[in-house]
Amino acid sequence: MAKSGVIGLDIGTTSVRAAEVVGGRGRQGGTLVRYGEVALPPGAVRDGEVADQPTVTAALKQLWAGAKFSTRQVNIGIGNQRVVVREMELPWMPLPQLKASLPFQVQEMLPMSTDEALLDFYPTGEVTTAAGRMVQGMLVAATKDTVRANVMAVESAGLRPQLVDLSPFALMRAVVHGEMAGRTVAVVDIGARITQVIIAAEGTPRFVRVLPSGGGNVTDAVAGALGCSAPDAEAIKREVGIGFAVPPERTAAAEAISNVVRPLVEAVRNTFVYYASNHPGAGIDMVVLTGGGSQLPGLGQYLASASRLAVSMADPLSILRVGKGLGIDPSRHATFPAMPLGLAYGVAA
Ligand SMILES: Nc1ncnc2c1ncn2[C@@H]1O[C@H](COP(=O)(O)OP(=O)(O)OP(=O)(O)O)[C@@H](O)[C@H]1O
Ligand SMILES: [Mg+2]
Repeated sequence: MAKSGVIGLDIGTTSVRAAEVVGGRGRQGGTLVRYGEVALPPGAVRDGEVADQPTVTAALKQLWAGAKFSTRQVNIGIGNQRVVVREMELPWMPLPQLKASLPFQVQEMLPMSTDEALLDFYPTGEVTTAAGRMVQGMLVAATKDTVRANVMAVESAGLRPQLVDLSPFALMRAVVHGEMAGRTVAVVDIGARITQVIIAAEGTPRFVRVLPSGGGNVTDAVAGALGCSAPDAEAIKREVGIGFAVPPERTAAAEAISNVVRPLVEAVRNTFVYYASNHPGAGIDMVVLTGGGSQLPGLGQYLASASRLAVSMADPLSILRVGKGLGIDPSRHATFPAMPLGLAYGVAA
C-alpha cells in the first residue's frame, strides 16, 4: 500500500468528492492515488452548507467504504455568500499576533459580531506607507454556524478535519500553475448553486466573490418553463446550451436557460470590472473555468465575448501523476473536479 497522502474533501451541492494526493510538495508533482465521489440528494447541502447532516454523513461513510482512502484526516473547504473575504492592509506585526488582534481590528468591517465569527488572515505582501510598515492580505470571516454544520457532518462520519480552508483559495491552488502563475488569472467555478470567483495575481489571491447561482438554477428554470421533471430538464439543458440556434420546439428551453445564464455571466463580468477598477494597470489576463455548470455548451464562448477575455477550461490533472488502477479516463481530465485536489494541496496549520 502506498504511503498515506493528504485528502481534500469537497462537500458540494450535488455530491461529496474526495481526492488523496501523495508527495509533491504543495501542489506540483504529486500523485493522485485515490479518488471517489458519492451523489447527494437535493436538499442535503444548501448554499455550501450541510442542511441534512445524517444524509451527508451517510454519503461520507459510503465514500470512505468505497474509495479505500489510507487516512481519516481530511482538509475541507468553506465558501458561500456568508463568508466575507476582503483585501486589506494592517499595521505590521508577527503573523500570530496579527491573527490574535483581528477581532479588535476588523469589527467595524464585518456584517456579523466578532463573537460569531471565525477570523483568519492570509498575508499577500508588505508595504511601507506614511503610517509605517503595513501587511497586505486577505481577511476571511465566516460565521461559526457555517463551519460547524460541515464539521459535524464530517466528524459524525468518523473523519477528522485537520484544515478548514477557504474553497476559492483551494480552487486557485488546483488550477493556477505553469505560465498562469505569472499572470493575473480569474478562476470561475460554476457549481450547482454557487459560483465562486477568485482572482489571483502572480499566484497570490487578490479578490474573492461568491455568487448565489449555478447550473442547478438553470435546470430549475428549464423545468419550470417546460413543466418537466428535473432529470428531463437537465438533459434538455445540456442539449440546448447557450448561444446556439435552436429548433422551434426548443425556443422556450433556450429562453429559460438564457434568463439564468445571462445575469450570472453579467455578475461575473461585473466582478472583473470591479477588480480592474480597484487594481489599475493590473487587469485580468485570462479566465479559467471549473465546476460542472461551466460545461454547459457555449458558456465559455458566451463569457469570453461578454468579458472580452480569453476563457479556457481548467485542467487540474495536468500537474499530477494519476495512480494506476484509479480508472480515471484521460479524456475526462479537463473536467476533473478541481476543488478536492486544491483542498488536498492545502497545508495544515
Ligand atoms: N455537461 C454538462 N452540461 C451542462 N451542465 C452540466 C454538465 N455537467 C454537469 N453540469 C451541471 O453542473 C452542476 C453541478 O456542478 P458541480 O458538481 O461543480 O456542483 P457542486 O459542487 O455539487 O455544487 P456547488 O458547488 O454549487 O455546491 C449541475 O447543475 C449540473 O447540471
Ligand atoms: Mg462545487
